[in-house]
Amino acid sequence: MILVIVLENYAYLVSSHNDSLACGTRGRPGFFVRTYGCQMNSRDSEKLSGLLLQLGYVQAITQEEADLVLYNTCCVRESAEDRIFGNLGRLKRTKKDKPELIIAVCGCMTQQPDIAEKIRTKHKYINLVFGTMNRHRLPEFLWRVISEKKQVIDISEETDLPELTDIPVTTREFPHKAGVNIMYGCDNFCSYCIVPYVRGREKSRPVEDILKEVTALAEDGVKEVMLLGQNVNSFAPSFPELLRKISYIPGIERIRFMTSHPKDCSDELIGIIKELPKVCDSIHLPIQSGSTKVLEDMNRKYTKEDYLSLVHRLRTAIPNIAISTDIIVGYPGETEEDFLETLDVVQKVRFSNAFTFLYSKRSGTPAALRTDTIPAKTASERFDRLIAEISPIQFTINQEKIGQVLPVMVEEITPTDYKGRTGDHSLVHFTCPTPLKQGDIVSVKVTNAKTYYLTGEFSHV
Ligand code: SAH
Ligand code: SF4
Ligand code: F3S
Repeated sequence: MILVIVLENYAYLVSSHNDSLACGTRGRPGFFVRTYGCQMNSRDSEKLSGLLLQLGYVQAITQEEADLVLYNTCCVRESAEDRIFGNLGRLKRTKKDKPELIIAVCGCMTQQPDIAEKIRTKHKYINLVFGTMNRHRLPEFLWRVISEKKQVIDISEETDLPELTDIPVTTREFPHKAGVNIMYGCDNFCSYCIVPYVRGREKSRPVEDILKEVTALAEDGVKEVMLLGQNVNSFAPSFPELLRKISYIPGIERIRFMTSHPKDCSDELIGIIKELPKVCDSIHLPIQSGSTKVLEDMNRKYTKEDYLSLVHRLRTAIPNIAISTDIIVGYPGETEEDFLETLDVVQKVRFSNAFTFLYSKRSGTPAALRTDTIPAKTASERFDRLIAEISPIQFTINQEKIGQVLPVMVEEITPTDYKGRTGDHSLVHFTCPTPLKQGDIVSVKVTNAKTYYLTGEFSHV
């Protein structure tokens, strides 16, 4: 209770400050949030934007016009961090002409103590740094930046992460669909991965909170929800039960979820995808490698055969299910034979989509200590061979859809056509004689297919 009062007090101080600015010549200060990384970060950013609106900021259209720029960061691979520091360097130059600009950085990257320290010593132009586990204290941090006029860095880990509820929903990225974080953190400690260190221990949100959030989204016009967690299959008390409860919410027509860790994908989950029509026939099931030896090194807790048998069970129950995956190439110690196992799985499973990554060393993870790293040239050759294996399969899978009539949800309206998604998440460009809006579901006859998308036309049947 005391905590709540204190937080509200800071919110009051910041919004009063912004109200007073609004009366001056510069007007109400604008904010701009840039998000890096996964959909969980996107959803956090929507909530942080809502919080900033409540604090009396207005949304700026571009970074250049903003008085407060917030970067919500990712550090899953080194390339993400490089990009963020590159963009921060550009902001530093903007700040030379606009000294009152507040630059704030939060999220996974800043949760690493060495990065926070690097900003403290080398990036003094950054006004505020906070982490993934104390983001609800943003009003306090902003007030300290405004009133103390010095750099504020606080990445304290708070075990009881309050959800940012009761925020305006005007800041969502899409009108018709939304991500919903159902759990935070990760306890799996895959040997290459930094997420458990920067997101803390796994914690499921209370079912009632999630249902409340989805109901509010549905009332606001959302037709599709994507339930998000690093391993939704370990949602407590029960992920299949959560899916069932969400499917009862009026207005929600499609339910997706990610990510499913293969080690926890139960027959009960398979049963519920089959049973509930609103749960889409698609599953993101990252394999990471096809080699049992590499999988063991990665601490993934399943073998190549376990994975193939899971795929078999999924396809037996739901023949049309689209299976997508993540694959890492060039993990330390990966031999040519190991890599051939990955290609073999690609052939056997026939993924409808695969996100492929070059292994990136993340300090603090067990894999970072390994000395048997793969030369960059070998890794990038394997990467190219992997893509060459995956793409023709995607093309064939898409070709097989020509002539089918599929329900498609409108995602985007362009001057010449519509872009939408089928239940199995295929992208479809299609035409329709009558005007449609985002979120409408219509029947589309597939007329042509490319590797990454289908084309089609509205169909009456
Ligand atoms: N929780 C999800 C993955 C989240 S991270 C799961 O376990 O499946 C998204 C993807 O980034 C991972 O699936 C993995 O393929 C990739 N990834 C994570 N750490 C990486 C690293 N150090 N180098 C390269 N890719 C990595
Ligand atoms: Fe990372 Fe593994 Fe957790 Fe996924 S399950 S976030 S890859 S540690
Ligand atoms: Fe990146 Fe953090 Fe997501 S490291 S992938 S933003 S959980």
